[in-house]
Amino acid sequence: MNPQEQNKALEAWQTFARYWDKYRVLIAQMFAPLTSGLIEEAQIGIGQKVFDIGGGSGEPSLTISSIVGPTGSVMYTDPVAGMVETAQAEAGRRGLTNIQFKQCSADDLPFADGAFDVAVSRLSVMFFADPLAGVREALRVVRNDGYVSFAVWAPKEANPFFSTVNDVVDRFVESPKEDPDAPDAFRFAVSGKLAAILENAGAENVVERRLNFQIEEKISFEQFWQLRTEMSESLRKTMAGLTPAQLPTIKQAAADAARRYFVSGKMSFPAEALIISGRKSAI
Ligand SMILES: C[S@@+](CC[C@H](N)C(=O)[O-])C[C@H]1O[C@@H](n2cnc3c(N)ncnc32)[C@H](O)[C@@H]1O
Repeated sequence: MNPQEQNKALEAWQTFARYWDKYRVLIAQMFAPLTSGLIEEAQIGIGQKVFDIGGGSGEPSLTISSIVGPTGSVMYTDPVAGMVETAQAEAGRRGLTNIQFKQCSADDLPFADGAFDVAVSRLSVMFFADPLAGVREALRVVRNDGYVSFAVWAPKEANPFFSTVNDVVDRFVESPKEDPDAPDAFRFAVSGKLAAILENAGAENVVERRLNFQIEEKISFEQFWQLRTEMSESLRKTMAGLTPAQLPTIKQAAADAARRYFVSGKMSFPAEALIISGRKSAI
């Protein structure tokens, strides 16, 4: 990714910051199992100094803040000003005093070596311009023997929350061929791919854990459709290029495809993620 592409990607995240804020409660609930998985894998507990990379609208920082308690601390980071603002405002509303906020990119961290006990990233490493540099930096800023843990999506096929709408849209509109190494939600869906980067960056005891859970909410298909089409950059682009006649047809086809995930006023999608963790050498 060249610097121009990188700036464009960050501008896109800036545009999306308001939607991440708008849907913050839903996002926090839907993806809570990922936060729990990170907390468990990185063995986060009371009194620890935790570093969150690409914290978006505030997770997992906000949850971890209450786990580490007043004797611990969280350093939330994200390169996008709009994300930092919304996360910081939410921490203020909750009266959290053990979180600090810093606008910075994963590959160039303004922190000293060994400044934190553990580093976590929920759904952000797949968007780093240079994931190897980002993982190296995460290892640099944790203490010796400290954990680094990254949560990423498993393949699309195991994640109908995303694929149901995307597959329908693909039937109607030709999408450009994807580069498997370009920033994307499924960039590290292939088992072993991110683990190899952790090993290459010098992490020890690298472990990849598969996490199966349900994305569940009391929302209708209509609300799900709005959330997906507002929050997905690729869907927004595609929707913008549709003729007025195509949109209702695609929406109806998506509703038909998603029907089995909406029962008795509740949405419930099976989901699969990978949590890849490693440790910095003890010496
Ligand atoms: C899908 S969101 C995840 C946000 C949050 N961690 C969550 O799980 O709700 C991805 C985040 O990665 C951030 N991001 C993009 N490029 C990054 C980079 N180079 N370094 C750190 N974070 C980055 C984006 O700004 C965005 O907030």
